[in-house]
Amino acid sequence: MKKTTALQAILLLLQLLCFGVSSQSDSLTATMDGEERQFLYSAIQGFVGKWWNGSNLYPEPCGWTPIQGVFCDLFDNGMWYVTSIKIGPIFDNSLKCSKNAAFSPNLFKLKNLKRLSLVDCFHQPTYFPSMEWSELSSTLKTLEFRSNKGLVGDIPPVLGQILSLQSLVLTENSLTGEIPWELGNLVSLKRLSLSSNQLSGPLPISLGANLSELLIMDISSNSLSGPLPSSLGRLSSLLKLDLSNNFFSGDLLPELCSLKNLTLLDLGNNGLTGGLQPCLQVMIFLQDMVFSDNPLGGSMKELDWKKLEKLVHLDLSNTTLVGEIPDSITELKKLRFLALDNNRLCGSVSPKLATMPSLSSLYLHGNNLSGELEFSVGFYKRMGRRFASWRNPNLCYRFPAVNSAGEEGPAGVEKCINGEDCSQTENSTTSLEISKGSDYMSPGFLWALLVEQGVILSVLSSLRTFQKKAIRKKILFKAFINHGRAGRRKGKRNHGRAKT
Ligand SMILES: *[C@@H]1O[C@H](CO)[C@@H](O)[C@H](O)[C@H]1NC(C)=O
Ligand SMILES: *[C@@H]1O[C@H](CO)[C@@H](O)[C@H](O)[C@H]1NC(C)=O
Ligand SMILES: *[C@@H]1O[C@H](CO)[C@@H](O)[C@H](O)[C@H]1NC(C)=O
Ligand SMILES: *[C@@H]1O[C@H](CO)[C@@H](O)[C@H](O)[C@H]1NC(C)=O
Ligand SMILES: *[C@@H]1O[C@H](CO)[C@@H](O)[C@H](O)[C@H]1NC(C)=O
Ligand SMILES: *[C@@H]1O[C@H](CO)[C@@H](O)[C@H](O)[C@H]1NC(C)=O
Repeated sequence: MKKTTALQAILLLLQLLCFGVSSQSDSLTATMDGEERQFLYSAIQGFVGKWWNGSNLYPEPCGWTPIQGVFCDLFDNGMWYVTSIKIGPIFDNSLKCSKNAAFSPNLFKLKNLKRLSLVDCFHQPTYFPSMEWSELSSTLKTLEFRSNKGLVGDIPPVLGQILSLQSLVLTENSLTGEIPWELGNLVSLKRLSLSSNQLSGPLPISLGANLSELLIMDISSNSLSGPLPSSLGRLSSLLKLDLSNNFFSGDLLPELCSLKNLTLLDLGNNGLTGGLQPCLQVMIFLQDMVFSDNPLGGSMKELDWKKLEKLVHLDLSNTTLVGEIPDSITELKKLRFLALDNNRLCGSVSPKLATMPSLSSLYLHGNNLSGELEFSVGFYKRMGRRFASWRNPNLCYRFPAVNSAGEEGPAGVEKCINGEDCSQTENSTTSLEISKGSDYMSPGFLWALLVEQGVILSVLSSLRTFQKKAIRKKILFKAFINHGRAGRRKGKRNHGRAKT
């Protein structure tokens, strides 16, 4: 089937004008079906307002008076048809929606529409149209409604009839209700993003059953609950799975480990339990692994971390982990971000962490790590605020004698007392007082700390926590820049990295 885009037609026209080549060309004589033209005007008027008179402004919308955001293809019958509509502040001159934007029924009569994208369009409450989608069931490939605060109601089950759909992106709207089971019929789907809505209920089992071509699934920042269905393991092509910021519960399933090609796995801020599954180490392409803020439990030594050699971002913060930090983690050459804070980790901190070539953020605070921090002054300088180890009552630091005067130690960590092993200073009053926070500090004690370390611990502590969340957010943002992660958390559970 031969099709030519509008751009190609214009180029051809220019070619003819410039070089005087005379030839008969479809695209010069082609026209647009009269009905199709009226449907287009009416559909766009629905979005941008009654003032917009298409027939006056754009007599040939697929020809010499193109409408911003509207694209046409030339079909075999020598006619132009509208194949793509993008409305919203995408480019400076894009059409923008009016206050009373609405879906015109004529939109669904554009029978060759492949792509529909509405960004920041609906501000007044507007229901997701529920009936007409079946008319586009064999043509529509991309449906994107993004940042429409006014788009309310349920995701209509009839969307499950658009069997041609490859990309369904409904992020940052105000959609409610459950995810329809019928979306599991969209067997051509490569991207499914429903993030940052108020969807509730379970993740339908059907999504795992038949979507074997899915590459990206992002359902983050909703209110979904219940266990993760084991059918998720059948999404064998999946590259990115983000279910963070929901209320999922139950154990991490071994079935997840079938997702061998994942590069991003973010299950952060849910209620997941069951510990780190040893089989996770088969995900050898994984770059981002985020389990933070789950009562996961278990120990890090379940995994042979060096197998996950592509890891860049590992966040196990606040996951009730116990045990020691395994040495194998220091073999991750690409790891830039390592957050193990706010767990119950014990044992010593390996000096090998400082030799990891890419490591630029290391958070160990709020654990029960003990012994001496054997990092150099240079390490603390390089890491700056991206290193934190406070609230480990049995941890201490000691600089080599050459680094005498004025060097600042790691915040919130005591200097090792000469000749004494830190692990035996559990009854040290100062250490215990630090672990309880500033409420327990006498003014005299606080002053002594200020003089010794030149920092205000409690203020710094909160600042650094905040900054860490910001960094984490930034990195995730990068990972998602290609599929439009909304990232922001809304509503009742607005805490943690959502704040940035
Ligand atoms: C657009 O303007 C033409 C004449 O200028 C008028 O006939 C037509 O009804 C208008 N269409 C709409 C939809 O307002
Ligand atoms: C998967 O597809 C088959 C047909 O190919 C269909 O019968 C079945 O209902 C689908 N399963 C789900 C869970 O959607
Ligand atoms: C996983 O990735 C490899 C190569 O990167 C590819 O050959 C394979 O087909 C992928 N597996 C699936 C199930 O898509
Ligand atoms: C730790 O995670 C739990 C969920 O497991 C969450 O409720 C809590 O707010 C988190 N704590 C912090 C400090 O983020
Ligand atoms: C912290 O670790 C020490 C051993 O270094 C142990 O005696 C103590 O019970 C631990 N404390 C907690 C709260 O787990
Ligand atoms: C506290 O530690 C000191 C050694 O630093 C030791 O002499 C003393 O007995 C310990 N006190 C208690 C209550 O364990």
